[in-house]
This record gives sequence, C-alpha cells and structure tokens, in this order.
Amino acid sequence: MSPSSSALLSAFLTIYCLCTSNVQGLKAPFRARDVLPLLPRSVSWPILKSLHSPVDILPSFVGSVAEGSPYNALEWKATCFAGNSAWMEFHNKSGSEFGGGTLHIKIRNAHSWTCMDLYVFATPYRVTWDYYVLAREHTLEFKEWEGKAEFEYVKRKGVSVFLMEAGMLGTFQALWDVFPLFTNTGWGESSNIEFLKNHMGVSFPLRPQPWVTNVSVDDIHSGDFIAISKIRGRWGGFETLEKWVTGTYAGHTAVCLKDSEGKLWVAESGYEVEEVLPYKFPWFSVTLLTP
Ligand SMILES: *[C@@H]1O[C@H](CO)[C@@H](O)[C@H](O)[C@H]1NC(C)=O
Ligand SMILES: *[C@@H]1O[C@H](CO)[C@@H](O)[C@H](O)[C@H]1NC(C)=O
Repeated sequence: MSPSSSALLSAFLTIYCLCTSNVQGLKAPFRARDVLPLLPRSVSWPILKSLHSPVDILPSFVGSVAEGSPYNALEWKATCFAGNSAWMEFHNKSGSEFGGGTLHIKIRNAHSWTCMDLYVFATPYRVTWDYYVLAREHTLEFKEWEGKAEFEYVKRKGVSVFLMEAGMLGTFQALWDVFPLFTNTGWGESSNIEFLKNHMGVSFPLRPQPWVTNVSVDDIHSGDFIAISKIRGRWGGFETLEKWVTGTYAGHTAVCLKDSEGKLWVAESGYEVEEVLPYKFPWFSVTLLTP
C-alpha cells in the first residue's frame, strides 16, 4: 500500500469512528458500504467481492405507476430512502398523435447522506433507468409514446418501477461480472456459455453441420413449438439472464397453429394475443441451436 493510500485509509477510519461514536442514535451520516470505492483497491476489492454476486443485478418490482396526482401516488420504501412516492402525468408537449408523459417521483427520508437508490423504469416498449441521491421531487420524461400500443398500455397498466436493491455500488459491481455477456464478440459468446454452465449447469455444445435448414408449411403441424436460444450480442446477454432467473433454456419461442382451412398461424413470444400473425411466406429458415 502506498503511503498516500494508507494515510487516506487511516483518515477515513478516524472520521468513520468519530462519526459512529458521536452520532449514535441519530441518522448515520454515511455507511461503510457507500464509501468502499474510496478505499485503496487492495482493501476494498476483497470486501466488495465478498458482498456482491450477479444476484445483485436482479431488480425487485416496486409497482406500477398509473396516471394520478400526489394524492393517489404509488408509495414504497427503498434501500436508501424510506419514503418514496410516484405518479404519472400524461401530456402532449411533443404535439404528437399520442403525446408523452412525466413520471413524478418524490424521494424522502434518507438513511444516509451518501446512499443512492437506483431504479429501472419499464414499459413493454422501453427500459430506462435513473438514480436518486437527494431527497426531493424528481421527474422522468417520456417525451413521446412509441405509438398507440405503448400509450394504451401505460394508460391501462402504468409504467413498471423496479428497484435495484443492491444500490448503485452493488449493482455496478455485479454488472462488472455480467458486462461481458452483452459484448458482441467471441469473448461475449464464451462468457454467456460459461455463465449458463456455472449458474445453470447447462452446456451448449456446437451442433454438427448443417446449421441451417428449410422448413416448408407442410412440415409444420398445429402445436409445433419452435425455440431459439441466443448466446451472443446484446440480446444474448439479456436472454442469458432471463434463462437464469426463469430456469428456461430457450429465449424466443413460437407456437404454430393451423386453422380448420389449414392456414398456418404463428404465435410468437413477446407479442400480445391479438397480434398473432398469419403466416405469409411459402417457407422460412430456422437456425437450429441445441441446448
Ligand atoms: C397532441 O397534439 C397534436 C397536435 O396538436 C394532436 O394532433 C394530437 O391528437 C394530440 N394528442 C393527444 C394524445 O392529445
Ligand atoms: C432453402 O431454400 C432456399 C430458397 O429456395 C435456397 O436458396 C436454399 O439453398 C435452401 N437451403 C437449404 C439449406 O436447403
């Protein structure tokens, strides 16, 4: 340890001891976990490693924020702030067909001065995130809804709010392990395969050639199930985590249905039931992957 970093460490420990002994019973001004990154790496790294795992990047569902006002807002307690509330306001600042919205989020009662809560906000059409350190009212802008479907979804069900319970530090530390899963490289691909092997005990051996086959409509029967498992790229990383938390081996799936006239319909995962698509092409290719 260099002299400057050990000086920093002892200064930190002194301040920390002073604070903890003098303000007992009061709100702690900061918590040890919050300031770990300021410590010399040789000290902080082993502590961090023991504290965090990929489990920390699993968000917990707080609730859905529907259209409302401060008086009928969604309320919850979080890791760093004990009093939180949120409500949605629809607007048309963009002058577009469906307009947009503002999510108001009020943060109160901090546990410490340095702690920050990290949130993920999602509709079926987008995912965004934000973090809050200060107790006050914050806003999150949705300039324009993607279209009728998102507008109606938010009107009916609201925007889903997820809390990263591990906090900023825990989340990013856990992401450090998970980051390679999202890189579109050979390294990313082997990281995904490795992750599935370590965490789910599944292996993805290379399938012998041919890797591509043509399937004609006549080969498909009602109830046939097609599953694709991505292991590379951005969606590969998402699918890996999805597989891990749900225990499934497939990512994207489709069920084929034939009606009484023998017309083929394909219901694809990720679409709502009313969007089941009639099958239009004389043939399609399916890349076969084996779990
Ligand atoms: C928003 O404003 C535009 C232009 O004035 C209008 O055509 C549209 O219908 C409005 N949308 C909503 C959701 O009010
Ligand atoms: C699949 O069909 C297409 C179009 O008929 C053809 O070009 C391609 O070579 C076929 N692939 C295989 C693997 O049979």
